[in-house]
Amino acid sequence: MASITQTDSSIRTDVAFQRCINPVCAATYDTDVMHASCPRCGSLLDVTYDWDRAHVPSKLSDFEAMWSQRTNPVRFSGVWRFHELLPFVPQDQIVTVGEGQTLLQQADGVSKFVGLNAGNLHLQYEGMNPSGSFKDNGMCAAVTHANMLGAKRAACASTGNTSASLALYCSATRLMKAVIFIGSGKISYGKLSQALDYGALTVQIAGDFDDAMLRVREVAEQLGIYLVNSVNPFRLEGQKTIMLRVLEALRWEVPDWIVVPGGNLGNSSSFGKAFMELKELGLIDRVPRLAIINASGADTLYELHERRGLRWNGGNVNMDPIREYMDHMDRHGIKADTLASAIEINRPVNLKKCLRALEFCDGVVRQVSDQEILDAKAQVGAGGFGCEPASAASVAGAKILRREGVIAPSDRVVCVLTGHELKDPTATVAYHSTDQELFNKTLGSRGVTKASYANKAISVPNELDDIIKAIQLYA
Ligand code: F0G
Repeated sequence: MASITQTDSSIRTDVAFQRCINPVCAATYDTDVMHASCPRCGSLLDVTYDWDRAHVPSKLSDFEAMWSQRTNPVRFSGVWRFHELLPFVPQDQIVTVGEGQTLLQQADGVSKFVGLNAGNLHLQYEGMNPSGSFKDNGMCAAVTHANMLGAKRAACASTGNTSASLALYCSATRLMKAVIFIGSGKISYGKLSQALDYGALTVQIAGDFDDAMLRVREVAEQLGIYLVNSVNPFRLEGQKTIMLRVLEALRWEVPDWIVVPGGNLGNSSSFGKAFMELKELGLIDRVPRLAIINASGADTLYELHERRGLRWNGGNVNMDPIREYMDHMDRHGIKADTLASAIEINRPVNLKKCLRALEFCDGVVRQVSDQEILDAKAQVGAGGFGCEPASAASVAGAKILRREGVIAPSDRVVCVLTGHELKDPTATVAYHSTDQELFNKTLGSRGVTKASYANKAISVPNELDDIIKAIQLYA
């Protein structure tokens, strides 16, 4: 692969390198190569910085000045506005499509549903990104790195959002061709339509996400295609900025809890890394606790962390429970199964990095049923801009943690809403539908039996008087 050309830009690249997260190995590599795992020991890699040589502001509020430079597309980006905290690329090589213009909303209606005091629940709407999910935060970083290496093709396996994001960056920048792997029938139409419309080469394999993930790694390696799944450490650098924007919206005050859905565990891993670095740099004086929420039909992290006591343990992760559980799933043909299709994943590739984040942020893991997810989703929709099912797992999880007393009513909680409402309208329409058959067919098979927060359409004859009467009755 081509090496990075040094430019005379204000941000130097020689501050960045890659390092294996396994402390026993800790092998380092330059940034002019993308390894999906450490060539020496097979562990995941981090992008690491020599902070003494970087130009990090002395306080986080200095980043507010970047907003006044927003005529520069780099500073307009909600990711690259924080370039100094991910300085692996010179500024003039950055790729951006204006990602990261997202919002933190104080949501008092949802706060009541969760059981928190008014004013204490905030929703971070990552669905406001160009492709409609948080993935754009990471994709701009991965595509930037791919382009630095001269890549002409980039690939991913996806439950739909990563692929939509990659496809968008490829179509909007025309820098490379997107090759995406998806499982059969495992992707919502909203997300599939994006990949097709943006012109990605879409490979639908007979299998689920976990199968597609294995295959794309083999194919990318054999054909030398740049891989953008979250095993790519450069992608996770971009996702750190979700937490920076949360802090910015809270006027740089650290909340008590960050609650996030867990699938392949890239987001939670990157959040942990963000807080580790901010603490190390002295830019924050305490870290929030992290709650990662699995769907109960795809609950590997919950099983391993909460039931089998698996811990990061200073990097000395006990592989036995992981192997035993994976063997158990293989023997019994257990496949991930949840209507929150974005997190329908049983073999999360970032498991170890996520354990590190859980340890650093004194984290917990919970699982929520599809019923709990849909009820929480209806509350989010009624109280704000809405989200897709997987995203609502965060709110459903916060409610459980509140009920258990792990989260106190006075705690300040941020739930990350990872994807846009319109990504996956099927479950939403079925939940609110008056058509019992549609409800049963779409949701009943997933154990969803009631729609306590449904907002059903009213049927009226096409007569002016009847329409007026109905409106006066209901609104
Ligand atoms: N929420 C949404 C909307 C997602 O699309 C995903 C992951 C997650 C949560 C979980 O995030 O993997 O970082 O733990 N979607 C991936 C995809 C797997 O292919 O789009 P994670």
